[in-house]
Amino acid sequence: MEWLESTALAEWVRTSLVGYPLVLTIHSIGMAIMVGLVSVVDLRLLGRFERIPYTALDNLIRVAWYGLAFNVISGAALFTSQAVFYTTSPTFLFKMLMVLCGSITAAYLQPRLRREASSWVSGHAVPQGVKTLAAASLAIWLLAIITGRFTAYL
Ligand code: HEM
Repeated sequence: MEWLESTALAEWVRTSLVGYPLVLTIHSIGMAIMVGLVSVVDLRLLGRFERIPYTALDNLIRVAWYGLAFNVISGAALFTSQAVFYTTSPTFLFKMLMVLCGSITAAYLQPRLRREASSWVSGHAVPQGVKTLAAASLAIWLLAIITGRFTAYL
């Protein structure tokens, strides 16, 4: 971790005028894409936005992964700037656990939507297990954002 903090990238993020704000901006755009689109999918599965067909939802998750990719790259750059602190921060580690759980939930839902969504169109109810997962996903991503923001303070 000390070596990571001594890299040129870490130095640029930590000390340059634009480093940290630019990378954090990319991080904000990434989370808007990932959490924004996954939240629409979750709320649709919970009965909102009735005009969005279930068969469109796996495509939204396909685009959401680009947001996560932005956040893995920008997050890794942010991480290098204070690697020792982040690896000892319970708030940050909890946030990363939430990001992992949220990503696993989306990765489970995507193929299931691809397989089953067409049957939900013709009146078959969304399985209770899928609704529970959608509600859990909303809570997980909300916690990821809250603990991501609180990392610098707690
Ligand atoms: C979609 C997934 C993610 C979400 C929703 C998320 C959310 C956040 C939020 C809300 C912040 C605070 C931004 C601010 O200070 O304005 C943040 C900061 C940060 N994130 Fe993420 N993040 C995600 C993925 C990642 C990943 C994959 C990594 C690591 C590889 C990471 C590492 C960091 C770091 C190091 C910070 C700076 C914390 C600080 O010092 O304030 N994030 N993230």
